[in-house]
Amino acid sequence: MKGDPRLDGRAVNRILFDEGRIAARVAELGAEITRAYPEGDLLVLGLLKGSFIFLSDLVRQITRPLQVDFLVASSYGDSTVSSGTVRLVYDPETTLEGKHILLVEDIVDTGRTLNRLMALLAARNPRSLEICALLHKHIADELKYETKYIGYDAPHEFLVGYGLDHAESFRHLPYIASLL
Ligand code: IMP
Ligand code: MG
Repeated sequence: MKGDPRLDGRAVNRILFDEGRIAARVAELGAEITRAYPEGDLLVLGLLKGSFIFLSDLVRQITRPLQVDFLVASSYGDSTVSSGTVRLVYDPETTLEGKHILLVEDIVDTGRTLNRLMALLAARNPRSLEICALLHKHIADELKYETKYIGYDAPHEFLVGYGLDHAESFRHLPYIASLL
């Protein structure tokens, strides 16, 4: 990755998951999710911006009818430390009532974002409500909800790429790397 022109000369520590490995894992998750919903309406809700690449790959591996919408919550500024505040900036337009809702998140860190969103979504009477996270740091003491589908357990490092950013950069890296 040294000399990767996408990095603009900035150093990333090491690649944790490369493109091929991610694709294989996303295919597994897609198959698992397809099996988990034999019937009913499925709405896949991507939490922007971090989930945009994961979500677009994941829905193409789910071989049953579904709809896609997004949520925009803001919990991080330009810092690598969680501020603990969650702001809802965009709300799905489609009704959630009676549908299977699969909330897709890039990474679960403290779990504060998900706690707030899950309570909000549960109040809209979906048929079911589950979380699918690409990465999970397993330090989410505060997380009140189980993350049913997890791509990878993440180390306690700051990760970028495949949708994850640092100060809005690095989202377009096709691999997941830790930042120095
Ligand atoms: P939480 O509310 O503390 O669980 O924060 C979750 C959000 O923080 C994620 O959706 C990411 O946008 C961001 N985040 C947490 N850890 C990382 C990381 O290692 N790299 C990039 N973003 C992160
Ligand atoms: Mg972020």
